[in-house]
Amino acid sequence: MKPRTSRLPAGLTILVAAGLAAVGCGQAPPPYKPVADVKQLMQGIVDPSADVVWESVATIFTKEGVEDRRPRTADEWANVRNHAMMLTEAGNLLMMPSRAKDGYEWMKMAQELVDTSAVALRAAEAKNVEGLYDVGGKIDEVCEKCHKKYWPNY
Ligand code: HEC
Repeated sequence: MKPRTSRLPAGLTILVAAGLAAVGCGQAPPPYKPVADVKQLMQGIVDPSADVVWESVATIFTKEGVEDRRPRTADEWANVRNHAMMLTEAGNLLMMPSRAKDGYEWMKMAQELVDTSAVALRAAEAKNVEGLYDVGGKIDEVCEKCHKKYWPNY
């Protein structure tokens, strides 16, 4: 068989298969109804949730002495867990078509927000103070990285 005649049909088959996969065999895209834009999402969900996670564990030096801040009651732990969950899922909200600035770096950073916040969520579930403290810095790095690239006046 001559290479030319055998290669062309094979390539076409692959194209047709890829095309079918892309349209998901007739499935409609999810009917998302985004309401908030990226800025509003930052103000309403991302920033307040991150603050609860960051401020949940701290060593604070005052005139009166050292305050070893950490969640203690079941309610306090649940509050941290819930906000870590909001932060985690906010990463998914940032990936939605109306919000994503591109399909590459933006998606990567939004996924990093999901991954790091999920570690905080698991730490809160396990009531792991050290783990919660450690991942706080990693979450902050993700915020910084995305802001440097996508926040015009940062
Ligand atoms: C995937 C990218 C991305 C990640 C991750 C991200 N941000 Fe943002 N953030 C943005 C962009 C883009 C803006 C600018 C929005 C605008 O002004 O339109 C912004 C703006 C903000 C603002 C300013 C809102 C205002 O009032 O103008 C705050 C506060 C903020 N982010 C907090 C955070 C925190 C805290 C984190 C991490 C826990 C975080 N962001 C993670 C993209 C990101």
